Amino acid sequence: MLMFVLKCLFLSFVAVFTSPSIVQGSNFCEYPAIFNFGDSNSDTGAISAAFTVVLPPNGQNFLGNISGRACDGRLIIDFITEELKLTYLSAYLNPVGSNYRHGANFATGGSSILPGGYSPFHLGLQISQFIQFKSRTKILFYQRSDTNRTKLSFKSSIPRPDDFSRALYTFDIGQNDLAYGFQHMSEEQVRDSIPNILRQFSQSVQQLYNEGARLFWIHNTGPIGCLPLNFLSYESKQGNLDANGCVKPQNEIAQEFNRQLKDQISQLKRNLPLAKLTYVDVYKAKYELVSKARKLGFFNPLKFCCGSYHGYQITCGKKSIQNETVYGNACKNASQLVSWDGIHYSQAANLLIAKQILSGVFSDPPISLRQACL
Ligand SMILES: *[C@@H]1O[C@H](CO)[C@@H](O)[C@H](O)[C@H]1NC(C)=O
Ligand SMILES: *[C@@H]1O[C@H](CO)[C@@H](O)[C@H](O)[C@H]1NC(C)=O
Ligand SMILES: *[C@@H]1O[C@H](CO)[C@@H](O)[C@H](O)[C@H]1NC(C)=O
Ligand SMILES: *[C@@H]1O[C@H](CO)[C@@H](O)[C@H](O)[C@H]1NC(C)=O
Repeated sequence: MLMFVLKCLFLSFVAVFTSPSIVQGSNFCEYPAIFNFGDSNSDTGAISAAFTVVLPPNGQNFLGNISGRACDGRLIIDFITEELKLTYLSAYLNPVGSNYRHGANFATGGSSILPGGYSPFHLGLQISQFIQFKSRTKILFYQRSDTNRTKLSFKSSIPRPDDFSRALYTFDIGQNDLAYGFQHMSEEQVRDSIPNILRQFSQSVQQLYNEGARLFWIHNTGPIGCLPLNFLSYESKQGNLDANGCVKPQNEIAQEFNRQLKDQISQLKRNLPLAKLTYVDVYKAKYELVSKARKLGFFNPLKFCCGSYHGYQITCGKKSIQNETVYGNACKNASQLVSWDGIHYSQAANLLIAKQILSGVFSDPPISLRQACL
């Protein structure tokens, strides 16, 4: 018993000494950096740099044709950095114009938690990129150089070594494990694959913890059955669609994924005594937006602005003239649509979703982003 008490005392001392800085005189956390892991929902330029450039009209309402984002404007992760008054996150894979002083983004479009999906940059690979990033920036930071030139030019664009333990580690990944599953397996098999996917997820969090990460902000997966592409490609059967027109069986599996994710996070909380983990119910925020879309001034939430998946099929950013009809033009005003391109949300939608989740109303524990370190 005494040992136990002593151990607890010791742990709480460690917690005090390693806790992140809290802004003097307020109850707000100050994170020196953000490290993000995920898929196209939070890719700020990786896939665009690594493979094929994300073409306009993507980015038309933010940063123009170098935005590298599958959106007309900003993503939820951009609103997170704005809220914390940090610079937008540069993609780890983007060599042009990047600055990593306040973090780095390892998210890449198409990524899943498990290897073998749409993209080679699965979560395990993103974590090893992070580990390499951390160790190389540390070496650079302490490196003595013959001239001050190399040292200074590197120092202003990399994190301080002690930023890593005070940084915020954000996740938005899992949607592609489900999407890829739906394309290649039965719904039952997708459901059965969830525990294995989440084991890998927990291992990744554990790996970051072993590297000194302490503050985790974890988005669950969204209502995949409400993405217009899925609605259009799903073979509609009686009773398959809910009141909002979303594909019910797909959303049920996403919710099962989220239930198990929440359990995994509870277990991580027990296993990682110095960590603060926040589970964020992005599913609920997105589903509410779809349900209330018309009340909020949006058009039909199952319509989208750019590209086309029915009639003539073309992805956003390309154009084609068929029988004197031009396909691929974006709609006049993307702010009137929840979905930008059938798969990704518009900037206007992302802003509303971000406002909700940053406030903490959909989080467990129910604390805002600015208090997630406390
Ligand atoms: C991107 O924007 C620049 C500057 O506005 C312009 O010169 C260039 O043509 C654009 N590229 C594409 C592919 O639209
Ligand atoms: C590097 O910078 C320091 C401080 O600015 C200066 O004192 C030193 O002479 C510089 N060294 C070289 C090699 O330029
Ligand atoms: C174009 O018109 C032809 C002849 O009417 C028709 O067969 C074809 O399906 C049309 N193509 C598209 C993409 O609408
Ligand atoms: C676009 O739509 C939004 C939301 O309905 C509206 O506030 C804005 O004024 C519109 N912009 C233009 C240029 O029509």
